[in-house]
Amino acid sequence: MKFVFISIVCYLIPLSVANIIADIISKEYDNLLPPKSNDEPVLVNITLSLLNLRSVKAQDLTFTVDLFVHQYWTDNRLTYPSSDVKENSVTLHSSWSNKLWIPDIYFKNGISGEISAQQFKTTYFILHSNKTIFMASRVTVQLVCDMDFTQYPHDSHLCSIKVTSLSDQRSTVELDWSDFIMSKRLHHTDYLIEFVSKDRCDKSYVIVLRL
Ligand SMILES: *[C@@H]1O[C@H](CO)[C@@H](O)[C@H](O)[C@H]1NC(C)=O
Ligand SMILES: *[C@@H]1O[C@H](CO)[C@@H](O)[C@H](O)[C@H]1NC(C)=O
Repeated sequence: MKFVFISIVCYLIPLSVANIIADIISKEYDNLLPPKSNDEPVLVNITLSLLNLRSVKAQDLTFTVDLFVHQYWTDNRLTYPSSDVKENSVTLHSSWSNKLWIPDIYFKNGISGEISAQQFKTTYFILHSNKTIFMASRVTVQLVCDMDFTQYPHDSHLCSIKVTSLSDQRSTVELDWSDFIMSKRLHHTDYLIEFVSKDRCDKSYVIVLRL
């Protein structure tokens, strides 16, 4: 009888998650406090990517879209785990959304009026060595649009996506647009979607689409 020994070797990723947690956040870190420096508002830069128009509901004047929301800001209280990491950035799992301060943005014309943190599904964070944090989330949101169906069936509607920060004081968070991107595959059987404009209005960032 012959015995065959099969050895399975697992290569461990040199940096364990536990290590990173201990390294990045100090005991004093309070994720409810915004990372203001010199009392300046936290600059949060946002890119929205429109992935899909799910539906347009004429009866309740709403439309539903899938969006990618990319945000970045700087949190100088974090410590980059430089001792273990050779690269200039580390990717952090979505569970970090409970540990880090994250911007309290929401959709002003969202149907439920709920704080979108509930609807946001954070996919990942990237922490750069200069303490800039990049956060990627995906959200499906139902938005109110004042549609006009008098021209039906040749109706077209100007609908907006309004993003704002829950911190009513501009002194806490200041939003800035990086970009608005529409997926090339974007099409809907009944609607042609056209980008009209992006603007700042009343502390919100407003993207206007023509459906
Ligand atoms: C930090 O580094 C990233 C990646 O190199 C860069 O995109 C970002 O602009 C930097 N942030 C600052 C505040 O310099
Ligand atoms: C946000 O990104 C845009 C484009 O990359 C840039 O022009 C703008 O200065 C950035 N704003 C902030 C506050 O970093």
